[in-house]
Amino acid sequence: MAKPGAPSSLDQAEQIPQPTNGRNTLTIKDDRTGKQYVIPIEYDTIHATDLRQIKIKDDDFGMMTYDPAFLNTAACKSRITYIDGDKGILRYRGYPIEQLAEKSTYLEVAYLLIYGELPTKSQYEKWMNDIKMHTLIHENIKKFVDGFHYDAHPMGMLISSVAALSTFYTDAKHISDPESRKLQIFRLVAKMPTLAAFVFRHSVGRPYVYPDNDLSYPGNFLNMLFRMTELKYKVDPVLEHALDVLFILHADHEQNCSTSAMRNVGSSHVDPFSATAAAAAALYGPLHGGANEAVLLMLSEIGSKSNVPAFIKTVKEGKGRLMGFGHRVYKNYDPRAKVIKKLADEVFEVTGRNPMLDIALELEHIALDDEYFIKRKLYPNVDFYSGLIYQAMGFPVDMFPVLFAIGRTSGWVAQWQEMLLDPEQKIARPRQIFLGPGLRDYVMMGKRAEEKVPKNL
Ligand SMILES: CC(C)(COP(=O)(O)OP(=O)(O)OC[C@H]1O[C@@H](n2cnc3c(N)ncnc32)[C@H](O)[C@@H]1OP(=O)(O)O)[C@@H](O)C(=O)NCCC(=O)NCCS
Repeated sequence: MAKPGAPSSLDQAEQIPQPTNGRNTLTIKDDRTGKQYVIPIEYDTIHATDLRQIKIKDDDFGMMTYDPAFLNTAACKSRITYIDGDKGILRYRGYPIEQLAEKSTYLEVAYLLIYGELPTKSQYEKWMNDIKMHTLIHENIKKFVDGFHYDAHPMGMLISSVAALSTFYTDAKHISDPESRKLQIFRLVAKMPTLAAFVFRHSVGRPYVYPDNDLSYPGNFLNMLFRMTELKYKVDPVLEHALDVLFILHADHEQNCSTSAMRNVGSSHVDPFSATAAAAAALYGPLHGGANEAVLLMLSEIGSKSNVPAFIKTVKEGKGRLMGFGHRVYKNYDPRAKVIKKLADEVFEVTGRNPMLDIALELEHIALDDEYFIKRKLYPNVDFYSGLIYQAMGFPVDMFPVLFAIGRTSGWVAQWQEMLLDPEQKIARPRQIFLGPGLRDYVMMGKRAEEKVPKNL
């Protein structure tokens, strides 16, 4: 129940602490001048621009906040995904991730993220049909993918080919037209698996497989990845379900690095294919979508269960990180990791047990009992077990971030659209604290002193 005075439209408004004395303001005293400022509080937050009135002289720029990596800055109001990192809660549009993973399909969840409500039967059928109508990609994109080097990273190929979609769909630049946005959303959700499968087939030197629209979204993806000479690909229902759940778990995660990239780049009003390429590029990094690849590398380096204590010791000595552990937001067990751990057992029933699972279980067992990890609230995150499942399903490690990108596309487009429709949003443009040199006169080349270039440049 929303508290009186709290805006009822914000789903989480009831979570926001309300003042006991009825005063929803922050009083700041500037000790440099002795002046006091009363700043309104809204949703337990102050507007950073309200600080600009805090000045020493009238012509000062005014006070800013300094928040590298946005540790404590809300850059938007959103109604899509709610996370309580301390309690290990993740909800899409209010629905707990555990329920969605158990009862829903990825396409249902994508609809939920984009339109705000779970679809009725007829809405779902139309939505599935709209997606199926757009699974094919332009034949020229095949040529484009062909041009990549044989050992190109699939994620690099995916980023480039998503960006290239903007050259095929020039209507995508009409971002203020709801019909155009709808169409680009269909295209993005529908074509990402096709692009992903094509880059995979290219990297293993196999012919591209066209979409089979009789199959489900994950079933068709498996078909495009793994079909050989058979006329009809037979989808394994366990793997189909596992992939669907993994897509659900990765579908959105509020303002993470790639989603912030999507919103930031999209705020320039570029087309959504270009913005998605930027988001996918952010996801490529090992601290974001590349972490499950890093987990597998780490597990294979550890080699056996008996080496785990020695490895944990090196992590505690600061000689590396326990990949798949820790999260900027979750200071508790990542709820997605719990679902994935259960899913792993189902997948291993079909594929055979991944031998590295024992090392992972031992790492988790030791780390969860160790003061270093307990004190820093480091728990397994979504990437800790997902790589083991992907590997058991036959995906090479460099396809892992690509799989992540497919699932995350629905979240990216939902957040992109929310950003565009938010009247408070403008082109993203952070400020800086300038610490470089003051004004100096240009020095001719022959007269410049030999300055040492810092070692890290
Ligand atoms: C995800 C991650 C980048 C979050 O980082 P963050 O919120 O900026 O946390 P910090 O880097 O400030 O770490 C806080 C402390 O925990 C330690 N720490 C964080 N993650 C750690 C890990 N995976 N292994 C060991 N120590 C870790 C840091 O060394 C630091 O210790 P200190 O206070 O003694 O210096 C970080 O936990 C990490 O690198 N994890 C491994 C990569 C990974 O799994 N990423 C996927 C995320 S879904």
